[in-house]
Amino acid sequence: MVKRSNSAIYITRRLPGPALKMLKGLDITLHNGKEPPTKEEILKRIAGKNAILCMLSDRIDKEIMDAAGPQLKIISSYSTGFEHIDVAEATRRGIYVTFTSDILAEATADIAFALILACARNIVSADRMVREKKWEVGWMPDLLLGHNVHGATIGIIGLGKIGSSVARRARGFGMKIMYYSRRRNEAVESELDAKYVQDLDELLAHSDFVTIHTTLNEESKHLINAKRFEKMKKTAFLINTSRGAIVSQRDLISALKSGMIAGAGLDVFEREPIEKTSPLLAMKNVVLLPHIGSADYITRSKMAEVAARSILDVLVAEKEPNPKYLVNPQAQP
Ligand code: GLV
Repeated sequence: MVKRSNSAIYITRRLPGPALKMLKGLDITLHNGKEPPTKEEILKRIAGKNAILCMLSDRIDKEIMDAAGPQLKIISSYSTGFEHIDVAEATRRGIYVTFTSDILAEATADIAFALILACARNIVSADRMVREKKWEVGWMPDLLLGHNVHGATIGIIGLGKIGSSVARRARGFGMKIMYYSRRRNEAVESELDAKYVQDLDELLAHSDFVTIHTTLNEESKHLINAKRFEKMKKTAFLINTSRGAIVSQRDLISALKSGMIAGAGLDVFEREPIEKTSPLLAMKNVVLLPHIGSADYITRSKMAEVAARSILDVLVAEKEPNPKYLVNPQAQP
């Protein structure tokens, strides 16, 4: 067994939860700043390390793996998405890439639903109106009228763990459920009376809320673009808690400006943080969140535990490492 003190690890952000305690005894270099480390900083700090515990805001590419050196054994990402890591390059080098899998599914489904409700029932503008002391008449018959959530149709793009958790909430809200997914999920279909559609345009044409729960890859980049917005109902809302680049933000802005769709609830953006000049910031028909899908105490703490456990499973393993949440089993000898 490898001694803990012989294992050097670079952690790119201070994490909530038990990660540091779990990794006690390892030779830890911690980036303590509020901002992510710059690439130059990662290149400098990673030299000679056996592991990196990184975030979705750290791009881990070939250059970084070169700078680390051949003793780098694991890239453990404190995230469910892993498009920020060059997995093919890591696999080629026999470096394990691990992630936090579906630990955040329920938390992210909660945020997707928070956005659905906020968009449909004008929650944010209502709060703003009260705070800005613009609530001048008590109860009014037509104040801030919104849209039904119950009885409406939700169109889920991607019925993995997060999409299924959203579907379960939708069922509780008495919504009709449609989904489009690479893989058909008959168990969820019969449990929740969800309708599978093979054609994304069909889902877009019938949904009152379109919610994205697919991963970002070459195929899904700008999956939702001007042509897709044309297919949506004028009264529909787009909800995105997955990755910003699945939606063409430029086309979304045009669709919102021209009234092609009613509004959007966004937790993710093509650039994060969003540009200070983005027209989205001035729009009334959007609800904007700063990528907080998994941000509840328990979830973030569990994610930290999983990310640290993966590192221990690889660096301090008794036998052949077999981390539970491995992205690239092909990296195993
Ligand atoms: C959050 O977006 C994650 O991938 O963990």
